[in-house]
Amino acid sequence: MATLVRTIICAVVLLAGAASAEEITLPSDHPDGTLKPGPGSEVAQRSCALCHSTDYIVMQPPGDQKQWDGVVTKMIKVFGAPLSDADAKAVAEYLARQYGR
Ligand code: HEC
Repeated sequence: MATLVRTIICAVVLLAGAASAEEITLPSDHPDGTLKPGPGSEVAQRSCALCHSTDYIVMQPPGDQKQWDGVVTKMIKVFGAPLSDADAKAVAEYLARQYGR
């Protein structure tokens, strides 16, 4: 009995080891979520896809500068997005230009 238990434990440990060695490839962002090119798009891609995909941005209804300033400020103040003041400004301007109304 003890041998059986030991065998089972051993098998479980081995299986767990095998599973953790597996590589996980995440699917890429939805192609519709690709940010439009233009000045500021790299900063936006780098800073705004840390917590969620860029789908969140692309899905939004068009907004003016004030609206996008608000979104960027909310991401920083409420959710802790790590953007410098300069990057925040560049991203908000880019968003208003490419996703404005
Ligand atoms: C630190 C994590 C984090 C980063 C970095 C981040 N966001 Fe978000 N974002 C969130 C969370 C959390 C939500 C809310 C998700 C929910 O409600 O389901 C969100 C939601 C959104 C939404 C949906 C509308 C809303 O207001 O809830 C938009 C648009 C958005 N983010 C844009 C951005 C932009 C632009 C940037 C880059 C400046 C950015 N996010 C960076 C965490 C982040």
